[in-house]
Amino acid sequence: MSEATARRIEPQALPLSAAELTVVIPTLNERENIAPLLERLDLALAGTRWEVIFVDDDSSDGTPEAVREIGRNDPRVRCLHRIGRRGLSTACIEGILASASPFVAVMDADLQHDESLLPGMLNALRHEPCDIVVGSRYVAGGGVGEWNKTRASMSGFATKLSRLICKTEIADPMSGFFMLRRDVFESAVRDLSGQGFKILLDLLASLPAPPRLKELPYQFRNRRYGESKLDTMVTWEFGMLLADKLVGHIVPVRFALFATIGALGVVVDLIVLWLALAGGAGFIAAQAVATLVAMTSNFFLNNVFTYRDQRLKGWRLWRGLFSFYVICSLGAVANVGFAAFVFVGDAHWLAGVKGIPWLASVAGVVVGSVWNYAVSSVFTWKRK
Ligand code: GDD
Ligand code: MN
Repeated sequence: MSEATARRIEPQALPLSAAELTVVIPTLNERENIAPLLERLDLALAGTRWEVIFVDDDSSDGTPEAVREIGRNDPRVRCLHRIGRRGLSTACIEGILASASPFVAVMDADLQHDESLLPGMLNALRHEPCDIVVGSRYVAGGGVGEWNKTRASMSGFATKLSRLICKTEIADPMSGFFMLRRDVFESAVRDLSGQGFKILLDLLASLPAPPRLKELPYQFRNRRYGESKLDTMVTWEFGMLLADKLVGHIVPVRFALFATIGALGVVVDLIVLWLALAGGAGFIAAQAVATLVAMTSNFFLNNVFTYRDQRLKGWRLWRGLFSFYVICSLGAVANVGFAAFVFVGDAHWLAGVKGIPWLASVAGVVVGSVWNYAVSSVFTWKRK
């Protein structure tokens, strides 16, 4: 991180027309919340030079239009309208990057976060030795309102898991409500994973040094309009964020998943082979059936786990399965071909390793898996 890009901006040096605080608000179908939220911000932040950027992922309920409508009369209000993309974390990142103020806050649009915390957050950043202020549900005075048992215990479990990647002591690392100095954000921005829902956790895991942190309690309110976007995808994305921060610097998380499922495929293959042989099938027929079953189960497992975010459905599912068969068959040819090449060892650089069956076989498997992964990521699960 260069000095120049993470420069600290002194608020006193700003012209009077410039905002001191940008509130970044990700939205997905929140139209009815926009006007009430802006009224509340206006009250809470009276006396502060603030602006707001809504980052909308092409809501179908007219949210971006509602924001622009207000923005035509109020220059503090802008909409960053993203088309063909999704994601709470990347929305926050891009909203922050689209602003210039020395302080930025991230907050949900649905009135669940208590806007009256904002002035206190800002004051802490202005006057105290502090880099990030977090709105916390899990310090004295905070709370989660009317959550059911399942959601409360899931949140508690996720909070514990997050300690694996988070270098900072924090009661509520899953909070979606926080404020920080721009230079602090910029010192981490290139290392952010951008995966999923948990932008604060991503930040805390990506900062070059543990930040000085302050948590302010608030009561998580209930939603009045619209509905939560929390679903199984969010859980999957949380797992991907953890994995990316844990092992992502060694091997891409998707490849690790793909390879694990591939290893499972070998087990499936052996079981089916054994069953078929026990059932009286000849070896060639048994091996053919085993391979087909293993490829099929690998396809469906990858579709659910490795590529959950671009899961194939309907007719695309069958087209995907067919392309996966073709790709894996070619992968098998590449596997056997490379293994034979290593085993025979004609090339002079193979002199020391030729003739070792297991080594040649492993080399073939590696080449075959990389081929299967690389090609299926382009043809089977291509991004729309
Ligand atoms: N741009 C964009 N893109 N916005 C999104 C997306 C998306 O893919 N998904 C959700 N949002 C917006 C919603 O419109 C809302 O303003 C905010 O992000 C939070 O979404 P909710 O669906 O209301 O999430 P939640 O209430 O279950 O959880 C929130 O609060 C928790 C506690 O602070 C999130 O902020 C969690 O990350 C947080 O842990
Ligand atoms: Mn919410």
